[in-house]
Amino acid sequence: MTVKIEVEPFEPDQAAAEDLTALYELSMAAVRLDRPDLVVPGYDDWVAGLRQPAAGFGPRGSWVARCDGELVAKAVVYFLPGENEHLALTEITVAPQRRRAGVGTAVLRALLPELEARGRKVVEGWELSKGGVGEQWALAVGLRISKSTISQTLAVRDTDPTLWDVPAPEGFRVAEWAGSAPDELVTSYAHALFAMHDAPAGDSEYRIGEWTAERIRDAEARHREQNVVQRVVVAVSEATGEVAALTQLDLYTAYPEWAVQQDTAVIPAYRGKGLGRWVKAHMLRALLAERPSTEKIYTNVNADNEHMIRVNEQIGFTTSRSTVGVSAEIAELRRLLG
Ligand SMILES: CC(C)(COP(=O)(O)OP(=O)(O)OC[C@H]1O[C@@H](n2cnc3c(N)ncnc32)[C@H](O)[C@@H]1OP(=O)(O)O)[C@@H](O)C(=O)NCCC(=O)NCCS
Repeated sequence: MTVKIEVEPFEPDQAAAEDLTALYELSMAAVRLDRPDLVVPGYDDWVAGLRQPAAGFGPRGSWVARCDGELVAKAVVYFLPGENEHLALTEITVAPQRRRAGVGTAVLRALLPELEARGRKVVEGWELSKGGVGEQWALAVGLRISKSTISQTLAVRDTDPTLWDVPAPEGFRVAEWAGSAPDELVTSYAHALFAMHDAPAGDSEYRIGEWTAERIRDAEARHREQNVVQRVVVAVSEATGEVAALTQLDLYTAYPEWAVQQDTAVIPAYRGKGLGRWVKAHMLRALLAERPSTEKIYTNVNADNEHMIRVNEQIGFTTSRSTVGVSAEIAELRRLLG
């Protein structure tokens, strides 16, 4: 089925008020249908969120699709940086009343040349509900499932805070910062981030970063530009002075009640000592002391990462959703979609 739509770029900072209102209505109708577990934000909070892109994912592009002037779909693409410059992380949302009429497929078809023009080779979509409409659509248009993941949430008020009273494993001290790693730890911190290469990743084309101190400084600068504070807690070996474990949490001004758990890693020589649980528990205590408005902490973990899932459960996370990642070569999709 080929539906006639016009796809055009959308700039959240410059959009006309009527377009923003239409996009809000479309987005909230989709949330109510697709994610009834989520709280629907008010208009002002939603606009603030729209204007604060996810940090660490590279430049963001936004598009809307119209059919006879009516806004019928939106698309958001992150042009991932560094090792992932081949990837376009894409999310397409069609207004509920316009579904099953070829709109989602037409939006994807229209985007593909734009993604290729920006040097991208592969489209991926992440965190689609397992078995949901997004997954079914993706498989129908020619993407494949490339990873199985789970979303976990920690509801602060429902969690017993004694779960975070985790004693320090012997021989380690904690160090922590917000926004900028101390000079004496930044190289060791970059080295410890290589432990993320051991995390199960399925068949996703996403490549884990080859971190250096310089790249850490670049990433910190990107977070600052986007007004996102990244808090980091590390375990430092008293014997060697090196970073043995780390955990990162992102705080967005647009979401004062939320925090987003990012990477947690323990370098191989130090695994099995409870360091992952310790740094994460310390992070929670420090965060809530400093930002008591935090109500929920969100994370997404590969479904095969049993150690990380167990650590998360030990400190109060519960699994809220099973999710998948989908992937396809752009050239192949162009061939399939014409
Ligand atoms: C996924 C989504 C974008 C699909 O948009 P759409 O315009 O309804 O999709 P299309 O009409 O182009 O569907 C093309 C084919 O996908 C499959 N498909 C789409 N929705 C489906 C569903 N609910 N159940 C089963 N198959 C489905 C069908 O094979 C369909 O062809 P058909 O209608 O001729 O049977 C839309 O449901 C949506 O916005 N979902 C919420 C956001 C989301 O999950 N996005 C994921 C993409 S990144």
